[in-house]
Amino acid sequence: FQHLEKSAVLQEARVFNETPINPRKCAHILTKILYLINQGEHLGVMEATESFFAMTKLFQSNDPTLRRMCYLTIKEMSSISEDVIIVTSSLTKDMTGKDDNYRGPAVRALCQITDSTMLQAIERYMKQAIVDKVPSVSSSALVSSLHLLKTSFDIVKRWVNEAQEAASSDNIMVQYHALGLLYHVRKNDRLAVNKMLSKFMRHGLKSPFAYCMMIRVASKLLEEEAGSHDSPLFDFIENCLRNKHEMVVYEAASAIVNLPSCTAKELAPAVSVLQLFCSSPKAALRYAAVRTLNKVAMKHPSAVTACNLDLENLVTDSNRSIATLAITTLLKTGSESSIDRLMKQISSFMSEISDEFKVVVVQAISALCQKYPRKHAVLMNFLFTMLREEGGFEYKRAIVDCIISIIEENSESKETGLSHLCEFIEDCEFTVLATRILHLLGQEGPKTNNPSKYIRFIYNRVVLEHEEVRAGAVSALAKFGAQNEDVLPSILVLLKRLFEFLNPLQVKEGFDATLSYMFMTVLEPLLGTPLPRYNAVLGSQKILPCYR
Ligand SMILES: *[C@@H]1O[C@H](CO)[C@@H](O)[C@H](O)[C@H]1NC(C)=O
Repeated sequence: FQHLEKSAVLQEARVFNETPINPRKCAHILTKILYLINQGEHLGVMEATESFFAMTKLFQSNDPTLRRMCYLTIKEMSSISEDVIIVTSSLTKDMTGKDDNYRGPAVRALCQITDSTMLQAIERYMKQAIVDKVPSVSSSALVSSLHLLKTSFDIVKRWVNEAQEAASSDNIMVQYHALGLLYHVRKNDRLAVNKMLSKFMRHGLKSPFAYCMMIRVASKLLEEEAGSHDSPLFDFIENCLRNKHEMVVYEAASAIVNLPSCTAKELAPAVSVLQLFCSSPKAALRYAAVRTLNKVAMKHPSAVTACNLDLENLVTDSNRSIATLAITTLLKTGSESSIDRLMKQISSFMSEISDEFKVVVVQAISALCQKYPRKHAVLMNFLFTMLREEGGFEYKRAIVDCIISIIEENSESKETGLSHLCEFIEDCEFTVLATRILHLLGQEGPKTNNPSKYIRFIYNRVVLEHEEVRAGAVSALAKFGAQNEDVLPSILVLLKRLFEFLNPLQVKEGFDATLSYMFMTVLEPLLGTPLPRYNAVLGSQKILPCYR
């Protein structure tokens, strides 16, 4: 379908008018039209309406593939073509017809083109469809009703008796969809939701999907109640830890560990099932368990210590995401003596994991630094190595944030930290990070034993970078002069030289105007001689307020 031409495709759609209908050919053209729409191609109202009306003729064919393509086209075109209600009677016929394969999709297409006023006309059919014995029909009607709630709440509300009936279906999807509709009809009425939950908690459910949803609803109510978890809702969630479906067990465990203000006693059973999942042969379960334990470890490290042995086994997991999460969890729960070993292990595959997981590693290091100040050297080195390697903005920002917070809290790590950051801005593609580091250098650099070491790096930034970084660098240099008497004379020389270098450049606006302003107001009084006026920037309205 590459390089499809809209006009050519619409031309082809004339085939729809031919008799006898060629189902294969027509289905192929409909596919092309849907492809174009999904690629973002704009169809004008005229074009869309014309093809739509041509398409309606295809209902004469009984070819199942072609019919299903028609349903899809109706749904896609319902918002761009005019008079789509023309197909209402064809769809109603299919919806109530004998062919079960047509009925579900016809319900969905019909609900898509129906507005509140027309909905009353088909209400009777919808109620029947909801309780239909064919699961695909019932599910289609339930899910369509859910969508209709947005526009026709008061009408759909009248269908709860049918939805109740569907909720006791043996089919797991029908039960799930029915419960979804019932919940969304009632979700603004706390009492009704509570009643609904207790009813299903008493009778039990067949569908694991429905259980997962109930767990989410119950934990939402618990969160809103706040305070004690001594409630049937909590008991329900806890009971779900013993469900026979892993999906339900995980959902319950995840709900419990995410509840605010959970006690150690309440957490324990949830952590136990996550521990069991850690040794599951299914990667998805191991991943879910270790990812959740990682989160628990941030708030309750001691609750996760019991899983350390299982987590150790995951350190060598062939799935690197699982291994990373296991290591970073152990870093939070393990002892100081295990840090070096774990860091070595993780560095062996840092290059294989995505930025998202690298950020997880940085966050773990950040937490470690606060806990074990003696480990700074090892951890900082790790961060510096990561800083030199490839990575996107979020990842690099996490590293820089972490280094800066270490520097701010520990004076002994300041000099090495600043030097590495200087090196980083030599080749940094992220303006935000470069200006942040320059700001830090201006703040911390003048107080160090050897300020001139940093001045060279900063000076280079003015000469080599674009306006924003340049402005940050000039400002940092000025701070060195202001805070340190010894370097003031050389800073003045540098600033004067920079002024002569920068001003003849095509000074446009924004940052360079700000710079000129800075030079005139700061440097002139210091030098005691007026600087030459190169341009009319002074007095410009564009001077950034922060530099005034
Ligand atoms: C690890 O397992 C999870 C869960 O099954 C999966 O989504 C992910 O793609 C896997 N990652 C790798 C790197 O194999």
